Amino acid sequence: MKWQATLYKDKHNFVYDYGTGLLELLRPKPGEHILDLGCGTGHLTKTIHEQCGNAVGIDSSAAMIQSAKESFPGIAFYVQDATKFQFNTPFDAIFSNAALHWIHPPEKVIRRMHNNLVNGGRIILEFGGKGNIASITNQLTTTLNDYGYPPKPLKEVWYFPSISEYTTLLESNGFEVSMAQLFDRPTELASETSGILDWLTMFANDFLVGIPKEQVTAITTTVQQKLKPQLFREGKWYADYRRIRIIARKI
Ligand code: BEZ
Repeated sequence: MKWQATLYKDKHNFVYDYGTGLLELLRPKPGEHILDLGCGTGHLTKTIHEQCGNAVGIDSSAAMIQSAKESFPGIAFYVQDATKFQFNTPFDAIFSNAALHWIHPPEKVIRRMHNNLVNGGRIILEFGGKGNIASITNQLTTTLNDYGYPPKPLKEVWYFPSISEYTTLLESNGFEVSMAQLFDRPTELASETSGILDWLTMFANDFLVGIPKEQVTAITTTVQQKLKPQLFREGKWYADYRRIRIIARKI
């Protein structure tokens, strides 16, 4: 997945706008050492840093980290793989918003989080849960098949677990889970005319790569048209997001 930091900031800032609700669960305390895992453009890392004074952001995308460093020069940001990262000083808390559905295999990320926390350290996570963007992915699959480009399996691109699946993984890797939620969050998209087209361009590139440009335009336009009855309401486009939220601590 190749990230375009500018398109992300201009049209997909809802990703970190929604993350502010998750920060209320993190409640950073002054002096705490906190990792923002999959920090993207660093907007939430900045808010965490303002509260604890000691935040670090990591992301696998060099473009995102460059943008984060330019926007927030006083904060430590690193290009790091979430399945491999290791810091010398463990964190009091690890926070992650809208990132973990991109990262495989989840067990490796969970083990890295465990290794990089102090004993009793907490994780506060939110990402796509079971059923996330089902309308979009069903329609994209149908349209790609209709155009003769059978898509790769969704689970090779995204990981949207149920509560039982993810909490079982956490418990078998040294975490105690104190809160798990799965809930719908229909998410308004920025453009009234090209909401789904922009979303597909930004996030569904893995399914469109290698397809000639005119065909991609035809496919994404068809997907948007077909989704209108479900996802266009009162002049606005919505993505059918479902979130999983987790609070757990290292035991
Ligand atoms: C999400 O935030 O749920 C998400 C974003 C892009 C692609 C897939 C899921």
